[in-house]
Amino acid sequence: MTTQNASKSHDLFQRACAVLPGGVSSPVRAYRAVGGEPPVMVRAHGATITDADGRDYLDFVCSWGPLALGHSHPAVVEAIQRQVEKGTTFGAPCEGEVHLAETIQRLTGVESLRFVSSGTEATMSAIRLARGFTGRDKVVKFSGCYHGHADHLLVSAGSGLVTFGEPSSAGVPQAFTECTLVLPLDDLEALEALFQERGHEIAAVILEPIPANNGLLLQRPEFLQALRRLSAQHDSVLIFDEVISGFRVAPGGAWELFGIEPDLVCYGKIVGGGLPVGAFGGKREIMNHLAPLGPVYQAGTLSGNPLAMAAGQATLQAIEEANGWQQLEALGAKLEAGLAPMLAAKGFSLVRQGSLFWMNLQAGEPPRTAECIASSAAEHYKVLFHSLLEEGIAIAPSAYEVGFLSLAHTSEDLQRFLAAMQRALDKLPTPATANTGEGSAG
Ligand SMILES: Cc1ncc(COP(=O)(O)O)c(C=O)c1O
Repeated sequence: MTTQNASKSHDLFQRACAVLPGGVSSPVRAYRAVGGEPPVMVRAHGATITDADGRDYLDFVCSWGPLALGHSHPAVVEAIQRQVEKGTTFGAPCEGEVHLAETIQRLTGVESLRFVSSGTEATMSAIRLARGFTGRDKVVKFSGCYHGHADHLLVSAGSGLVTFGEPSSAGVPQAFTECTLVLPLDDLEALEALFQERGHEIAAVILEPIPANNGLLLQRPEFLQALRRLSAQHDSVLIFDEVISGFRVAPGGAWELFGIEPDLVCYGKIVGGGLPVGAFGGKREIMNHLAPLGPVYQAGTLSGNPLAMAAGQATLQAIEEANGWQQLEALGAKLEAGLAPMLAAKGFSLVRQGSLFWMNLQAGEPPRTAECIASSAAEHYKVLFHSLLEEGIAIAPSAYEVGFLSLAHTSEDLQRFLAAMQRALDKLPTPATANTGEGSAG
């Protein structure tokens, strides 16, 4: 049975297309990068997500990262239910935000933080704060890093945009992006030259310390260390966007893993346990510039929402109680042990950081910059994607997106995935013709 023939799901998607642009609330969900029609989902539990026709999929998308415990974890469901009875939003300081903020502070080391409702809001607000704190306008971002869809960050961004081959978005005035300087990742020389020339103008440097929106572009420690050194030397604010890596690769995210402390850090996804939450925080000296203490305005009707705080708190607590970060690493290692040799036999490779994984469907060393990703990889990915989907396994509908493991994935789930992957890989051309070696940013 193909998803297109699945009648209830198909009918719902047709209705969605009549009322939602492209039938979706976020573009990559529309399957434009892989072709076909997305199944419309109605429920999910553990590692399984189920469409409107009752078809189950073993889920390696995990809602794009928030579900480190899997779907509908009992502790999270219970925490949300308990809070619903007490009220869904207060528009006033609430107990839940104190608990979650204290938990985040304990796990990460942030001195002070503010809750928002999405990762986009977190990065947008952190940049405004850095500008207010330094009195400077320029922001440095890296090609291949995605920080949400704020106007001034839609410049050579990753995620859906690269897939669609767009360097930026329509609707963003040139003037809005003039203060954003874009550099390639892994280019120490370019970084040093930029700081030497314009360091006094740079309010902030923002990056994903584990860039996971344009493949998985793992960086050399020297590059991250240079970023820390140069931003400190020039009094620029170093912002780590840990919306994906936060609470996933370690309790304290990439900051803890690499031992490099940013000035500000942005969170999203896991911190909300599947409800809409983001947060940004860091050094108190900087955070104290936020209203009401300081002159940088930032606000939100649903910020620190009690339901979302309860889901976030229950999620972090359950991960901690399960020794979850070690378990996620062990699951990732198990996946790698099976998948890496299969990919290598085709001339490809697996890139993994803990429970994040990405199949590099081209020959040679895994890329460290966005520019190195071959467009031919996307063609291979389509074949793998549809072969897996036919077998009831969901991976991200784009070659540029990473896969996510959760604590709900079992060894049996991984075995099932690996067997299906072998069958999918067998459908690809032999290694000699496996790729063109063509370089492209996608
Ligand atoms: C690294 C990173 N930053 C920011 C965002 C934006 O978060 P949101 O989609 O919650 O606005 C994302 C979203 O995928 C992300 O991966």
